Amino acid sequence: KLTPLDAPGYEKVVYAEDAESGLKSIIAVHSTKLGPAAGGCRMFNYPDLETAKIDALRLSKGMTYKNAAASLPLGGGKSVIMADPNTDKSPELMQAFGRFVESFGGMYTTAEDVGISVEDIEEAAKFTSHAAGLNKGAFASGDPSPVTARGVFLSCLAALKHAFGRDQIEGKTVALQGLGHVGMYFAEHLHAAGAQLLVSDIDAHAVAEARQRFSARSVAPDDIYDVEADIFAPCAMGAILNADTIKRLKVKLVCGAANNQLADDAAGDALMERGIVYAPDYVVNGGGIISVSTEILKITDEKWVDRKIEQLAETTDKILTKAKALNASPHKVADQFVEEVLAN
Ligand code: NAI
Repeated sequence: KLTPLDAPGYEKVVYAEDAESGLKSIIAVHSTKLGPAAGGCRMFNYPDLETAKIDALRLSKGMTYKNAAASLPLGGGKSVIMADPNTDKSPELMQAFGRFVESFGGMYTTAEDVGISVEDIEEAAKFTSHAAGLNKGAFASGDPSPVTARGVFLSCLAALKHAFGRDQIEGKTVALQGLGHVGMYFAEHLHAAGAQLLVSDIDAHAVAEARQRFSARSVAPDDIYDVEADIFAPCAMGAILNADTIKRLKVKLVCGAANNQLADDAAGDALMERGIVYAPDYVVNGGGIISVSTEILKITDEKWVDRKIEQLAETTDKILTKAKALNASPHKVADQFVEEVLAN
């Protein structure tokens, strides 16, 4: 059963319910101005439809900005499945989701996000040709997380100069929140480049792995905001930068993979007031959608991804340079940059 949801400013938002498989899902297409919408699917145990809708809308708009910032010919869309990824997943559920994606007729292409694996997307792909981030197929791009991590790492190097005057990561301490798909790869880059790691995760296994592989020190999840470090790297959930957490930070740079890191606009300004450089999330974490888009756009040039990833770091540098010149917060400068792209 498909129910259109009211969402001013969005092109199409639909809620789907399938009694047989238990699917409860929303697909939100924010904009197709730059091309067909693309963005991952998140599975989360949302308490109610309204909360799921708010998340889908925020993430979908975020994809419009992310795709535009990465100069991709793709619009912004996102989907959420209201279910617990640890207990509610089934092939039937993902197949029903695939049929839901197909009902958009190509206006939206899905991929992985939090709670969704390559295998899940492959189940959905049995019922839609608009699913990417697959392991098999002519243009299969697989798990986007390593590419995301590489983009965040290169962007972090570009941002270092703005926060510390030079782009040396060796010897810097990074407080890394969330050692999941992206966080663990990012930690690998940081460790290889000589950074010290201070990590937190609600998953004890992930923490143990980082301690063992990267000689990381670890703290309890809520203590990550208080540690003595140079860089804070949010790689878990969104909206973690708010009035309370920003006050506690002792770092000079925030650069991480998580989507929607700022709880609100004021959080971006608060970081600036505290003299903390903020590398805008949707600019630095564009690697995942770049990886996925090789599949959507059928890219054959093997160097394309590398070039696009390097561009993310260049864009980060440009935005931070402009923010400094204008004495404006980087998130606003990034938004303005994207809004200009969309207007033209
Ligand atoms: P994931 O689900 O694999 O990893 C998230 C990790 O954060 C897990 O290890 C989880 O236990 C941990 N975590 C959850 N709550 C926490 C807390 N309060 N404190 C510390 N750790 C906590 O997700 P993934 O794919 O690594 O994504 C991480 C973030 O990056 C998300 O915000 C996602 O939207 C964003 N992102 C991911 C991309 C990708 O390619 N996977 C692309 C662009 C953005």
